[in-house]
Amino acid sequence: MSQSMMNTIDQQVTDAMPKVNIDEWSRQYWEQGEFLALERLLPQSLIEQLMREVEDVRPKINRNFIPKHKKGGSVSYYLLQESAPAMLELYQHQGLIDVLSQLAGVPLLLCPDEDPHACALYFYTEPGDHIGYHYDTSYYKGARYTVLIGLRDQSSSQLLCRLHTKDADREIQELSLATEPGTFIYFNGDKLHHAVSPLAEDEERIVLTLQYVTDPAMSFTHRWFSNMKDAVGYFGWSALLRRPNRK
Ligand SMILES: [Fe+2]
Repeated sequence: MSQSMMNTIDQQVTDAMPKVNIDEWSRQYWEQGEFLALERLLPQSLIEQLMREVEDVRPKINRNFIPKHKKGGSVSYYLLQESAPAMLELYQHQGLIDVLSQLAGVPLLLCPDEDPHACALYFYTEPGDHIGYHYDTSYYKGARYTVLIGLRDQSSSQLLCRLHTKDADREIQELSLATEPGTFIYFNGDKLHHAVSPLAEDEERIVLTLQYVTDPAMSFTHRWFSNMKDAVGYFGWSALLRRPNRK
């Protein structure tokens, strides 16, 4: 990666994370049950840079289909590590991690290299592509936090959110959001019940996800279950075999 490219990503992320907004973002995040949506936060220039990498990896999409639950395409962290340096730099950007940690109130860490969701692309490209309601359940010993970044949204699909489902003192609140380019969404994976509504004909929606954890340790049983779920539901069996060797 060239120095100029590193500066560009670093500067763009730093510019998009003004510290003056942290208190307001934090208030919204906690008021919404550990969920925050910031429309078009990231600049167009950064999204265009990420979209060039999307086109590089598009031939490597793994399509998946689980009847009545999900249909779509994914590109795993393993493949992005090979060919998407800007996405990786964004994922590992310490300024971003610091902001996310401040919002969550706990220090966040990168996921282990063998987690294919750590930094991944989700493609909704065929009619009916969707995902049903779910939590981004943490199989780690610590909590798991999700960032979703809208890269392309030429679609009528919506991110459907149900806030406060695990808070007996709050009424459930339903939200329906478009993830337009630059939109930045952040939540505690065990708290937000969410789905993506089905794509219509001739539509396309592409989202980058970044995942962070408070403790990257995982029990053997949870690792096995997580691997099976990822192979069937997201990245295919080949992804299990292509994972990078631990150093
Ligand atoms: Fe999810």
